[in-house]
Amino acid sequence: MKIKEIKLEELDPEKFIEEKVREISSIVGNNIAINALSGGVDSSVVTMLGHKALGNRLKTYFIDNGLMRENEPKHIVSLFKKLGVKVRLVNAKEVFFKRLKGLRKPEEKREAITKAFYKDVFAQLIRKTNARYLLQGTNYTDVEETVRGIKRQHNILEQLGIDTEKEYGYKIIEPLIQLRKPAIRKIAEALGLPEEICNRQPFPGPALAARIIGEVTKEKVKIIRKATKIVEEELSNIKAFQYFPVLHEDKVTGIRNGKREYGFQIEVRCWNSKDAKTASPTRIPYKILERLAERLTQEIKNVVSVTYNITKKPPSTIEAL
Ligand code: XMP
Repeated sequence: MKIKEIKLEELDPEKFIEEKVREISSIVGNNIAINALSGGVDSSVVTMLGHKALGNRLKTYFIDNGLMRENEPKHIVSLFKKLGVKVRLVNAKEVFFKRLKGLRKPEEKREAITKAFYKDVFAQLIRKTNARYLLQGTNYTDVEETVRGIKRQHNILEQLGIDTEKEYGYKIIEPLIQLRKPAIRKIAEALGLPEEICNRQPFPGPALAARIIGEVTKEKVKIIRKATKIVEEELSNIKAFQYFPVLHEDKVTGIRNGKREYGFQIEVRCWNSKDAKTASPTRIPYKILERLAERLTQEIKNVVSVTYNITKKPPSTIEAL
C-alpha cells in the first residue's frame, strides 16, 4: 500500500495538528471547502482541523440520510454549536431511500450509499457553495480493508481508481488517512473535543443500513433505530469497542399471547477490539443478555427472536454488511 501508517507510538499530536492545518490551508488557498460531519470521532477531528485552517471558508454539513440513530442529527448540530462551529443540517432522506430501493446485496447497498453521498448530496453542495474541495475523515483501516477487498468502505474512492474531480467535480482532502482509530482519538483529545466525541464508539458511514440485512426500507430502519437505542442503553456500562443490533431478513415463527407470530429476528453484537482489525465478542453477563431479549421483544412490535453473536473477527467482520 502506498500510504504509510503513522503508529500511535510515533504520533506527536500537537505536531500532527500543526502540520495538517498548514497542509489544508495551502491546498485550499483562497478557495472554499465543504465537509460532512456525522459526529463520529473521525469527521469531528476533520471538522476541527478544517476550521482551524480555513475558518469560515469551510462549510460543515450534517447529512441526515434517514439512517442515523435517534436524535443524532439535532444532538450533533447543537454540540458543535457549543464548540463554536456552525453545522448546517441537510435533509437528504429521500435521496438515500431512493438509491437503496430494491437493493439487497451488501456491496450494491454500499455502492448506492456512496453514490447518494458523493454524486447527489456533496456534488449539489459543491455547486451551491462554489467549493472545490471536500474534506473527509478516511482512516488507515478503511483504506487497508478496501484495498484488500474485505469490504468497500463508503468513503474510499481514490484508492479504487476513482478520479473524484472528473467523476464528481471536486477534489478530496483526507488528513487522517495515515492514522488508525486510537491515534485519531488522541488527536481529538489534543484538539479539546469533548469526552463524548473522543470516546464515541465507531458508527459506519452507511449508518443503520449496515445493520439491516436485505432491502433497506423505512419500516426496517424504524425497527433497527429502536433496537439500537435499547442496545446502547443496556450495554452502556460494558467496556467494549462497539455494540449494536442487526436486523435479519428471514422471519421466524414465534408465539405471543398464545398466538403464533411470524416475526423479526435481532442479532446483538458487542466487540472487544483495539483498532477494528481483529475483534472478539465480549463476555456479557447472562442477566444483561436476558434483559436485552426481554426489552427487544416487548418494546419493538413483531420481534420474536434475539441472538448474541459469539464469533471472532476474522472470520466475522464487525458489521454484518
Ligand atoms: P468491519 O465490519 O469491516 O468494520 O469489520 C471495521 C470498522 O469499520 C466500521 N465500518 C465503517 N466505517 N464506513 C465507515 O466509516 C464504512 O463503510 C464502514 N464499514 C464498517 C465498523 O463499524 C467497524 O468499526
